[in-house]
This record gives sequence, structure tokens and C-alpha cells, in this order.
Amino acid sequence: PLVGVLNGPNLNLLGTRQPEIYGRTTLADIEARCVRVGQELGLVVECAQTNHEGALVDRVQEWRERASAFVVNAAAYTHTSVAIRDALLATDLPFVEVHLSNVHAREDFRHRSYLADVAVAVIAGCGADGYEFALRHLAGRLVPTVT
Ligand code: DQA
Repeated sequence: PLVGVLNGPNLNLLGTRQPEIYGRTTLADIEARCVRVGQELGLVVECAQTNHEGALVDRVQEWRERASAFVVNAAAYTHTSVAIRDALLATDLPFVEVHLSNVHAREDFRHRSYLADVAVAVIAGCGADGYEFALRHLAGRLVPTVT
């Protein structure tokens, strides 16, 4: 099964962006780890990042035909985007919402998510490990032999 790992705005800056909040791991490191963990789990992982809301919608629509699930860190758009919510709903596929930081320990506006109530799970505050946890959870649902 194919799993799309989607990262939103400013996550291209990981490694140098507020490292005290987001860590020193780069997006390239996270994506490589997702692909590697995916192989281990019997998943094909494709990764994408964009700073543009409409481009995130386009990517979800492209994956809609081929993917079995998503891991989504929509970054700031998590807190604002009906469009990304609707794009994910239109796929009718399971997704895990991931945040590197614990958004609930931060500003009030980060406590609201337009995705959380339609996600199968939400992982926040585990840093880059969150992506791996998300893939492991999805593999358990998608690959019968993985527990
Ligand atoms: C984030 C949390 C969001 O509130 C923020 O806008 C981000 C990153 C995270 O991974 O912790 O850009 O999604």
C-alpha cells in the first residue's frame, strides 16, 4: 500500500527554524526516515512538502487515486484550512495528523485543528518520531501481518 506523507508551510525550514521548538532534524531526514520505516513495514511511502494551501489540496487529490492512507502535518493550515479538511474527506482514506511540537502547550490558536476530528489519530509533541509512530499505526491497519 502507498502512504502519502504531506508536510505544509515552513516545514521546509526544519533544522534551522526555531530548533528549540521543532528540533534540529531536517525535513530531508524526516522524509528519508519515513521511506525507510515504510519499507520495513511493507508500505510504499511518498513524501511531499509545499508552502501553498491550494498545492496541498492538489497533492491530496493526486494521491486520492493511488494512496491507501496519509500522514499529514498541515502546519499552520491545520488551524485555518477548511479546504484541506475537505480534500482529505473527499479521499475517504484514513489519515494521521502529526505535529512535531505539542500544539496544546502553545498559543490558544494552535489548540484548534480543522483536521483532528476526522483523523484516525493525532500525534503531537513527539518530534520527528511522530511520523514513524503514525506510519506504524497505519501499517497495522493496512498490512495484515504488521501488528
Ligand atoms: C506544527 C505546529 C503548527 O502550529 C505550526 O504552525 C507549524 C508546525 C508542528 O509540527 O508542530 O508550522 O504543525
